[in-house]
Parts: sequence; structure tokens; C-alpha cells
Amino acid sequence: MAISNEVIWVTGASSGLGYELAKQLAGAGNTVIASARNLDALKSLQREAPSNIEILDFDLLDDAALSEAQARLKALSPKLDRVILNAGTCEYMDPLDFDWSLAEKIMRVNYVGMVNSLSIAYDLLRESERGHIVGIASQASELPFTRAEAYGASKAAVQYFLQSLRLDVKQFGIDVTVVLPGFVDTPLTRRNTFSMPFLMPAEEAAGRIIGAIEKRVLRYAFPRRLSAMLWMLRRVPRLWLSVGRDKSSKNNTQGAESRQES
Ligand SMILES: NC(=O)c1ccc[n+]([C@@H]2O[C@H](COP(=O)([O-])OP(=O)(O)OC[C@H]3O[C@@H](n4cnc5c(N)ncnc54)[C@H](OP(=O)(O)O)[C@@H]3O)[C@@H](O)[C@H]2O)c1
Repeated sequence: MAISNEVIWVTGASSGLGYELAKQLAGAGNTVIASARNLDALKSLQREAPSNIEILDFDLLDDAALSEAQARLKALSPKLDRVILNAGTCEYMDPLDFDWSLAEKIMRVNYVGMVNSLSIAYDLLRESERGHIVGIASQASELPFTRAEAYGASKAAVQYFLQSLRLDVKQFGIDVTVVLPGFVDTPLTRRNTFSMPFLMPAEEAAGRIIGAIEKRVLRYAFPRRLSAMLWMLRRVPRLWLSVGRDKSSKNNTQGAESRQES
């Protein structure tokens, strides 16, 4: 791995993709600062590479915890070479019983949480010779999917924010990479009841992301087969409307049936 001897902050490191990213980067000789709320999970991550992983447990939506985390981050390292803004969540809307508050809830974790993380890391990134901000967005925002109003919108916000930020931080020698994964096998996707094309193990996905980060690409969407498929479907919105609507009504019927059974 070309990335070594760096100080890298990974958010959402207690589980799934973040856990794998932290483990692989620490295994390659980097100092990884691992964040999330679940301290026990972070401690088991730390056991994977005890001398290279520091724990910074906090809730990135808790304002009081945020300023304390900023001080702890600074105490752990006077500079950050990279931050991987990975923490996030996903819940789907139910068209038969819309919970409108879900839009705010998901936007807060995925978008506000990401900006909060960045706000406490930014000064330390400026101390690096060549800082790098990596944001984990999603291919879900590349095409409208049924029930994905809240999640897709939050990831579109993440993507736009980082693309715009890139223009402003370039003058300070900071690069920005936006990562758009397809389906990765993690606790988040194990809750899904629909089929997930090209589902990939988290270990493989983390390895691919690290490969893209090394090259400091602007944008990395993977697997390519899925992004090519979505690219084509974006060009035929009316066809997608009928296919998506069919899928939606099928999901709704199944949802209604399971509600009746319970
Ligand atoms: N899996 C996929 O197919 C897929 C596809 C595209 C994009 N993504 C994105 O990839 C990222 C990682 O997803 P994953 O699949 O690895 O999910 P995951 O296993 O559920 O991990 C989510 C991580 O985010 C942390 N987190 C959530 N809310 C937090 C909060 N308020 N404060 C601090 N940390 C918080 C969780 O830690 P605690 O609960 O311990 O706080 C956990 O470490 C997410 O941004 C997700 O949207 C995933």
C-alpha cells in the first residue's frame, strides 16, 4: 500500500466499511484515529493493530461532544493527513405510511454529521503538507430509487458539498475525493430485503477505496458495472419511471402483506 506513515481520521469506524478501512490503513503502518459511538466495537478494532489505532468515541450530532472531540483530536495529533468521512446511516420511506421526519433524521446523520466532523478536523488538515478529504457518498443518489427519498437526498447533499468544497480548499493544497459505493455487505445492507446487484464484501470494497484514495482521484464510483447501468438508466427517465413504479408497487404489496401477518 502506498499510503503509510500518515495520520488518518476515519469516522464510522465501529462497523462495516469504516471498520475495514481503519483496519487496512492501520495494518499498512498508518496511525488511524477511529471514531464512532460504540466504544466496545472501537476497542475490538483497536485489537487488530494496537499500536496504530487511537480511539475517539463520540456522537457527531452532539454539539457538546463535538467541541470535546475537537480537543481530543488535537491532543492525539498536531496534524491530520487525511480524513475519511464515512459515518452514516440508511432508512427507507414507506409510501403507504410516509414518515416525513425521516428526511431530517437521515439528513442530520449523513450530511450534518459529515460537516460537523469536517469542522473539527479542518484546522488539523491544514497542518499537513498535502491534506486529503475523502467523503463516502453513494451511488443511490445517481438515480431516483423507490423509498430512497431521504437517503438519496442526503447523499446528493454530501456529494454536492464536497465537490463545491474542493474548489475552495485547493488553494490550501487540500484534495477532495468523493467515493460512491454500490452495495457493500455490512450491517447496514444486511437489513435490506430487496436484491442488491453486485453486492461486494466490505474487505474488498475498503481495498478498492484505498486504491482510489492513494491516487487522489476526484471521484470514485464502484463497482463500474453498476455505475454504467445507472448511467444508462439516467438517460431513459420515462422507462425508469415505469420500472421503478412497478417495483415500488410490488414492494408496497409485500409490505402491506407482512403488516397484515404481524
Ligand atoms: N453498505 C453499503 O452498501 C453502502 C453503499 C453506499 C454508501 N454507503 C455509505 O458508507 C458509509 C458506511 O456504511 P456501512 O455500510 O459501513 O454502515 P454501518 O456498518 O452501519 O456503519 C455506519 C457507521 O457510522 C457510525 N455512525 C452512525 N451514526 C453516527 C453518529 N451519530 N455519530 C457517530 N458515528 C455514527 C456507526 O457507528 P456507531 O453506531 O457506533 O456510532 C458506524 O460505525 C455510510 O455513510 C453509508 O451511507 C454504504
